Parts: sequence; C-alpha cells; structure tokens
Amino acid sequence: MSSVLDVPSQPASQSRQPLVLIDREKFRQNFNKWHFMLSHRLCGHPLLALPRIIELARDTALTRPDDLYYDSGVTDINERWGTSQPAVPVDETIRRIETAGAWIVIKRAEEDPAYAKLLGDCMSDLLEVSGPELERHMRYKKIDVFVSSPNRVTTYHIDSESGFLLQVAGTKEISLFRYDDRDVLTEEEIEQFWTVDRNAPRYKPQLQHHADEVTLEPGMGVHIPINAPHWVKNANNVSIAVSINYHVWASERANIYRINYYLRNKLGVTPTPPFRSPARDFVKRSIGTVYQTMRGTPNA
Ligand SMILES: [Fe+2]
Repeated sequence: MSSVLDVPSQPASQSRQPLVLIDREKFRQNFNKWHFMLSHRLCGHPLLALPRIIELARDTALTRPDDLYYDSGVTDINERWGTSQPAVPVDETIRRIETAGAWIVIKRAEEDPAYAKLLGDCMSDLLEVSGPELERHMRYKKIDVFVSSPNRVTTYHIDSESGFLLQVAGTKEISLFRYDDRDVLTEEEIEQFWTVDRNAPRYKPQLQHHADEVTLEPGMGVHIPINAPHWVKNANNVSIAVSINYHVWASERANIYRINYYLRNKLGVTPTPPFRSPARDFVKRSIGTVYQTMRGTPNA
C-alpha cells in the first residue's frame, strides 16, 4: 500500500531531490475533488526562515503592497478579511510574531527570483505526478507565504485557486469542507464570490461536523481543491507555511457562476448549477468570455 512518503519517480534529466512528495494514486482519485495529504522537504529551507521572510515582506510592502495582507488580534472565524487594520509595519509585526496575535500572507512571492525558482521546482514535482496536461489548465502559478502567531485563527474562506498548503514550522489544525457540500457552501455564495464579493461564503458553526479536521505538522501538506471551504486554528506556536497554487482560466468555471449570478439576481430565475448540463455550461462560458472581452478585462 502506498503512503504519502512515496517519492514520485523523476525524469532522468532531473538530478535534484523532489521537494513535494505526492502519492500518485491519491492524486488520481482526489485531485480538485477532495483534500488529501502529502509531504514535502521544505522544512529548514533558507527562503522560509523568518529573517528571509521579513526581507521578503519588507520588499513586498514597498514594491507591490496589494500582495501583502496582515492583521492582528482576529479571533472570530467569520471575520471578513480586510476589516482589521494593521497598527505597525509588517517587518516589525513579524519580529513580534510570538506575541502579536498576527496573521501575515505575502502573495505572489515568486516576484522575487529566488522564490520563483522554488515555485518552479515545486510545480515541476506536481506536474511529474499529474502529467503535463494539467499545465494547460494553469492560467498562472504562484507561491504565497504565511506566518501566524500562536493560537491565531485563519478565518473561514474559499479560494479561487487550486492549492497545496505546505506546513514548514509549527503545528496547526485545519478544518476542511467538501467543495460540493451545498449545505455548507451554497450556489448563491459561490456565484457572489466569483462576481461581486470574495468574502461571500459564511461560516455555519452548526455544520462544523461536516468538516474533516486535520492536524498539519512540519513536513506535512494538504491539497485544497478550488472553492473548498476551510479555516485554520494555529497551535500554541509560531506557524510558517507556504501555498503552491495556480489559477484556472475563467472559462472553466468563473464565467458560469457569473452568468448564474446575473440570471438569479437580475432575471429572477433559478439557474442550473455548473457541471450538470454541458450544453448550458458551454453557452454560459461563451457569453462570459464575450462579456469579459467587451469589458476589456482578462479572461480570468
Ligand atoms: Fe485558503
């Protein structure tokens, strides 16, 4: 029986050891449908030590502040991102991470060439397991770095990316819900998420028992399917983690949800959810693509 520690075979030209270790059978059965565990070799990596992360955070604050988010003191799982304003600069917040009650995410770290190389190596390991056809679905790939204070909560949310969360330092517990559990995550919430409000999905505490509660320790990782709800509770330790993820093309799902949003809210009809009628999905994808083109926005 295979385990998460199985090392994927590498092409002859690839001399380095793989950094991300994914069981092929788990990947084949669950990818983008249900979360599954994996392992990695990123613990102790110099790019993921706090002094280097402080440098990355400082550069990000100066050159692309929209890619930096941090707050402190949030304890409500349902709190909406962006409502807690940081009081001190990010580098100082990280230096005080033991006591700051902070949560910091540095998005698109691959803008720094060193992190771009790290992302490339991790994606190469993923594509070695998935097969190269997966790359056709990737609009762009990215690596996000997370630092959180002891006992800090990462509030309930869904992501627009398909991701692999890799725990580098500290232990935390993540509650993972199914992407297709419509008691937990309604069609209306997903339509709003893709169209008008990235904070639309709301945590329903009475349905916490629908979650799979997984403990992440250093060296472990978990695949989080696109739009699968989750929230995180850090243990009594500083946590460092990275997410290796990719955005899909809007035509694959976002355009369908956007058209459904307008059908429901402007025309008052109950639209057919995506992935049930190929013909309806085709029409919605096409209209959505034309709409995006007319607005002059990328098809993303
Ligand atoms: Fe997430």
